[in-house]
Amino acid sequence: MSNAALSLAEKLTRDHALSIGEYEQLVAGYTPEVAGFLARNADRTRREVYGNEIFVRGLIELTNYCKNDCFYCGIRKSNILADRYRLSEQDILSCCEEGYRLGFRTFVLQGGEDPYFTDDVLCPILRTIKQRYPDCAVTLSLGERDKESYQKLFDAGADRYLLRHETADKEHYGLLHPDDMSFDRRMKCLADLREIGYQVGCGFMVGSPYQTPRTLAKDLKFIERFLPDMCGIGPFVPHHQTPFGHFASGTVEMTCFLLSIIRLIHPPVLLPSTTALGTVDPRGREKGILAGANVVMPNLSPVNVRKKYELYDNKICTGEESAQCRGCLETRMSSIGFRIVTARGDIRK
Ligand code: SAM
Ligand code: FES
Repeated sequence: MSNAALSLAEKLTRDHALSIGEYEQLVAGYTPEVAGFLARNADRTRREVYGNEIFVRGLIELTNYCKNDCFYCGIRKSNILADRYRLSEQDILSCCEEGYRLGFRTFVLQGGEDPYFTDDVLCPILRTIKQRYPDCAVTLSLGERDKESYQKLFDAGADRYLLRHETADKEHYGLLHPDDMSFDRRMKCLADLREIGYQVGCGFMVGSPYQTPRTLAKDLKFIERFLPDMCGIGPFVPHHQTPFGHFASGTVEMTCFLLSIIRLIHPPVLLPSTTALGTVDPRGREKGILAGANVVMPNLSPVNVRKKYELYDNKICTGEESAQCRGCLETRMSSIGFRIVTARGDIRK
């Protein structure tokens, strides 16, 4: 075992922080043994805060229209072969109704940056959801908007916002996105969301093109400083109709290693074991939980649109009904000794 990486893993477990150089050395020093050591400590840390409870979020994919052109994403505007759709208010409310019946107490409304979903369209939908289901939390994941817009959505009832920072290295950000997208703007959005009072989530893809131990070290330092309420990380998976279609996927091993590190940096963080993790490995989501994650996000979108929200190739859960997805995850979690709970699942501070 690499002694240097192991002593850094011990230091992280004790101090919940490392220097950028130390994070870089820890990431570069990955071995299955160091990963195992971190996973055991992350698992214990997560149990101290959340026991064996796993929170579920019902994911509703509102639209696959997007005005952006991220090089990695299957619903980028230049993908002329994407079969575009957007859900109506009625569709969204039906998903919530079904989700509530299945025990979900958080709905995540996610979508591409679709100019159709203005504040005037979204606010009444949010108000209706919150009025019908006052015991539920609503999480939005709709990309970059003005501060005024974030404020209006918050006032209409949104509780949480997920906006992955994608990479905390400005140069790397420039390699993943076209010139009209800005690292500084993304960071400003995260600061705005925090200031308004949302529970905020950041995150990044593991194994994205041009990622290095150094860029990952910057991601980890950013997380240590920002202390997000939620952190979404999952492997990069190529989509064949994008400029990054020929790059390799991120690995389940590196994703789990980073999940453990993030749990140790910020013990109460809400950390999903993502669909992308289940896509690169049939037991990926179970492995993510065992490495320190505590959230799963089954799909609540209508079955007829699921294949169309294709961010990457071979995405799982596109043929299942919501109830099947919910049941499947219940079985998966209990197979490893965890229990899905019906609760809003706010961060425990
Ligand atoms: N438009 C919103 C935004 O930008 O935050 C939300 C939707 S966006 C598609 C959600 C996340 O999917 C992105 O933040 C990105 O990290 C992830 N994603 C996109 N393409 C991916 C790929 N090829 N592999 C893995 N994750 C991907
Ligand atoms: Fe969707 Fe298993 S979680 S089918």
